[in-house]
Amino acid sequence: MTRLPGAVPGIARICVVGAGLMGWQIGLMCARAGYVVHQFDINPDALANARQRQRATLDEWNASGKLGLLEATGEPTDVVADRIRQFTSLDEACQGVQMAIEAVTERIETKRQIFTELDRLTPPSVILATNSSSIQSRRLANAVTHPERLCNFHFTNHPWLRPYVETMTCGQTRPDILETCYRIGNSLGIASARVHGESQGFIHNYVWRQIKKAAMTLVDRGHSSVEDVDRAVMIGLRAPLGPFQMMDRAGLDVMLDIERQWFAESGEERDRPPKVLEDLVAHGNLGVKTGHGFYSYPNPSFERPGWLLGQEEE
Ligand SMILES: NC(=O)c1ccc[n+]([C@@H]2O[C@H](COP(=O)([O-])OP(=O)(O)OC[C@H]3O[C@@H](n4cnc5c(N)ncnc54)[C@H](O)[C@@H]3O)[C@@H](O)[C@H]2O)c1
Repeated sequence: MTRLPGAVPGIARICVVGAGLMGWQIGLMCARAGYVVHQFDINPDALANARQRQRATLDEWNASGKLGLLEATGEPTDVVADRIRQFTSLDEACQGVQMAIEAVTERIETKRQIFTELDRLTPPSVILATNSSSIQSRRLANAVTHPERLCNFHFTNHPWLRPYVETMTCGQTRPDILETCYRIGNSLGIASARVHGESQGFIHNYVWRQIKKAAMTLVDRGHSSVEDVDRAVMIGLRAPLGPFQMMDRAGLDVMLDIERQWFAESGEERDRPPKVLEDLVAHGNLGVKTGHGFYSYPNPSFERPGWLLGQEEE
């Protein structure tokens, strides 16, 4: 059992905009830490799915006492789940909150519309944050009248396996708002990091992007196979998975979108998306979800006994 630090003073209710993959997880993490969550989505099915996933995750957490790296708090599922209220009206979801975390589809126009609405529906004291993986909050700043309360607040998928959140300025964010976000991150019982200045990819995705890019460049140049790169990283860096295995899990279409975003931002030739990735996506090979990517599923080669050391049994 673990005791979490308790809610940050002055922050009691958090609106989570979006109830998709990240939205339900962020809602759950906030409720687990004692915040009342106003979970909003335009799609009622997404809300129904979120409720079911949140309850199932809490049940699993309580039954095993630990999920990933995080211990259970011991609070019954019903108590935590009751702190999560669902809304299909953003207006109602904004009532009485001190913070709104946006986690909707990664489209800048959708996000700009939402922040314009959040700006209209909440007083200037309410913190506005985006969980976007690739859009710097600077690009949303002119959608709001008070950019000093706007920032990035970026979680990882499955925060119990990768308990980490990072806060980054929009270039105009007030320092006390950034500090409050950092402390809210800590209050969730996970590692909370401050990005100093502005960084494309923040901290986590910046490092991860360099690793992916290096791995795919080695293959594009013919210096290595997919499997040998994964072995090198797993053995050399003592990583549980190699970069190609990770990319297959995340989805190669998503990986390509991110590479295209970097290229669009920098315009530099070295940021052009890797050929190996372009080719796979062009042929509909998107990783685990389609059965083919850098590996074939089910039963990928790396699950065979002896694969890691290249000592596979015949
Ligand atoms: N998937 C990841 O691993 C990951 C990790 C970190 C951050 N992110 C970021 O989190 C955000 C959400 O990603 P996701 O994977 O949860 O996406 P998702 O597609 O699973 O969920 C998006 C949700 O947004 C809802 N939505 C769309 N338009 C809306 C609107 N106008 N108002 C309210 N809800 C709306 C959709 O109904 C859907 O439920 C993105 O910005 C993404 O970059 C994703």
